[in-house]
Amino acid sequence: METTLRRPNLLKRVASLIAPPEVLEFWISRINPLWSLEHARARVVSREIAADGATALLLKPNRHFRGFRAGQHVNLKIEIDGVLHTRSYSFASAPRADGMIRLVVRAVDGGKVSEYLQTIPVGTVIALSAAYGGLRMPSDPDRPTVMLAAGSGITPMLSLIDQESSSGFSRPIHLLYWARDSQQMIDRDALQELSSSILRVNFIETSTNGRINEAQLREVLSSKPNILACGSHGFVEAARVLTEGKCASFQSESFTPPNSSVENEVDGEAEVTLLRSGKTITVPRNQSLLEALEANGLKPAHGCRMGICNTCSCRKSNGTARNLLDGKLHREVSQSIRICVHAAQSDLTLDL
Ligand code: FES
Repeated sequence: METTLRRPNLLKRVASLIAPPEVLEFWISRINPLWSLEHARARVVSREIAADGATALLLKPNRHFRGFRAGQHVNLKIEIDGVLHTRSYSFASAPRADGMIRLVVRAVDGGKVSEYLQTIPVGTVIALSAAYGGLRMPSDPDRPTVMLAAGSGITPMLSLIDQESSSGFSRPIHLLYWARDSQQMIDRDALQELSSSILRVNFIETSTNGRINEAQLREVLSSKPNILACGSHGFVEAARVLTEGKCASFQSESFTPPNSSVENEVDGEAEVTLLRSGKTITVPRNQSLLEALEANGLKPAHGCRMGICNTCSCRKSNGTARNLLDGKLHREVSQSIRICVHAAQSDLTLDL
């Protein structure tokens, strides 16, 4: 990994005698934006089209990035027009010998960051979080693994397949990949090339074959496989229902939060008191706290917006919050909640 700061701890100690760390950090990054006393950053070294409306980025991180395992995610912090945005993306390959990171980003309608990343100039430096979360290959290799992926939900599967491919496939894998049409399928040609008797791949165009359904899954469920599913919240929930009792295990991740107003029929409003800013606002009880705070002009820290990265965690010192993913209520005082996937069940006090 690129760095010129070979002995960061010693350098940091010496440097702190010269100037406060934040001042040094500023000047070091002016010499080379990739350099830092302690922060993980990466330079965009290439950009190419991975599918219609999706771009693959190859990033070269500095030494502060501690690596990842296949199936994990990372937050990117990107400044656009002077505003810092954080977004979460899955790694789209296994860890590489050259230390580079591959991400695939699909442009989302109106998505400022995802659209910017489609044309991000090569050479741009981006801040990275540590890798976190993610799907894992099931622990029993004697049973087939079925991967169900929709849209951008293919990216963690690409990472896991890459890992399995480089270690010679420890088990049969059957990938079912749904997208509107073949042009929208990320890395379609590469997957087609990799497909074999040990890695079966079915591309399912939803424009002609419809969304995930029982008929599409019948054959793959006959071996009672381990299942990994990734896609929108609706896709993952449909996969969960269709495979219930027919698989040995079910791991999932969704890249969209639940549609709170549709799936959480809780009416009314609640008052949320924010301890640090001293504000009290009224929020709908069927909306995530993150969305509700943003609708009130506030900008709480966040990353993935789907309950994985923990960036939005804050202490709830009073009241009951409802988890929008599983409907569970959290009444304990002084409890940490992720505001992107929790709504106010009652009036709340948050340490924000
Ligand atoms: S923003 Fe990632 S957990 Fe809430």
